[in-house]
Amino acid sequence: MEKIEIIRPDDWHVHFRDNGILKAVVPETTRHFARSIVMPNLLPPILNAKQAIEYKKRIENAIPQSDNFEPLMTVYLTEKTSKNDLKDAYNNGAVFAVKLYPAGATTNSDSGVKNITKIMPVLEMMAKIGMPLLIHGEVTDPNIDIFDREKVFIEQNLDFICKQLPELKITLEHITTTDATEYVKEGNKNLAASITPHHLALNRNALFVGGIRPHNYCLPLLKGESHRKTLVDAAVSGNPKFFLGTDTAPHLTKNKESSCGCAGIFNATYCLSILAQLFDNENSLSNLEKFISINGTYHYNLKVNNEKITMVKKAEALLFRKYLYIGKQRIEIFKPDFPVFWSIAN
Ligand code: NCD
Ligand code: ZN
Repeated sequence: MEKIEIIRPDDWHVHFRDNGILKAVVPETTRHFARSIVMPNLLPPILNAKQAIEYKKRIENAIPQSDNFEPLMTVYLTEKTSKNDLKDAYNNGAVFAVKLYPAGATTNSDSGVKNITKIMPVLEMMAKIGMPLLIHGEVTDPNIDIFDREKVFIEQNLDFICKQLPELKITLEHITTTDATEYVKEGNKNLAASITPHHLALNRNALFVGGIRPHNYCLPLLKGESHRKTLVDAAVSGNPKFFLGTDTAPHLTKNKESSCGCAGIFNATYCLSILAQLFDNENSLSNLEKFISINGTYHYNLKVNNEKITMVKKAEALLFRKYLYIGKQRIEIFKPDFPVFWSIAN
């Protein structure tokens, strides 16, 4: 049996939601990860330090006693966000980063930013104090083809922000294209990107295998195979600019299997097994630790975790549970279309 020991990983992009879903999904992440950056797109969103602190308490109440886990909180940026509230919240450790959603880009993003120039004073302040900006990098113009929205965001918005504020620490989140990968690789040192397990595992064909597959629907959308390959190459390369952000995004099956289904893939349960398999398939297991446990900590100026986890490769493929239950409701757990032989031993 093959076995690897690696530094306990962190997940730099999770959706925990609230109430019953929160209680069910938090342990799926805290079982394996030491820290996560928690997205603020609740309904209504987390708009200020006070709400972030209250939300953090609700998350902490859902962490099992056995798990040692730190949620890193974010605030949802709007054109009305208070500079002083953010600055104080960052300086006293209550809020870790700010999330920029272009208005209407994804699930619960209606109060997002319409005009980037309106938020430049807040971004200038963030650059000064070292507070990271996390970006959902897609334009929302309905005239732009939905598969091109990441590329156009980079041309129309990200490039402007990076040139105006090279000192601002930016994460271009859940990148999906060769364009984004190249832009980040060549960009300034403060620009990095997170990549999800599902964008590494699937291409857009997975949306239409024998019929429409709502459980593979997420934003940004899965892209073509050449883009997927570029993402895999970037992830397995060990390049410190690329790290894991699972974007685990739970929705009840009834809200996904619908005539207007929600975007989001719930992948927390088996994400590390899937990633180990992907890296193994690329003969790059030696770089797995960089992608899931090290690169993100450099970008965010944090220490790597002290603890280790052990992963083992078994002869039999892992059997995936299909659902996570919340009373009588359920959430479908992400499973890729290839066999996975890796699991976590401790
Ligand atoms: C996320 C969600 O459901 O909150 N959905 C998704 O498809 N990724 C929002 C997001 O991160 O875009
Ligand atoms: Zn997300």
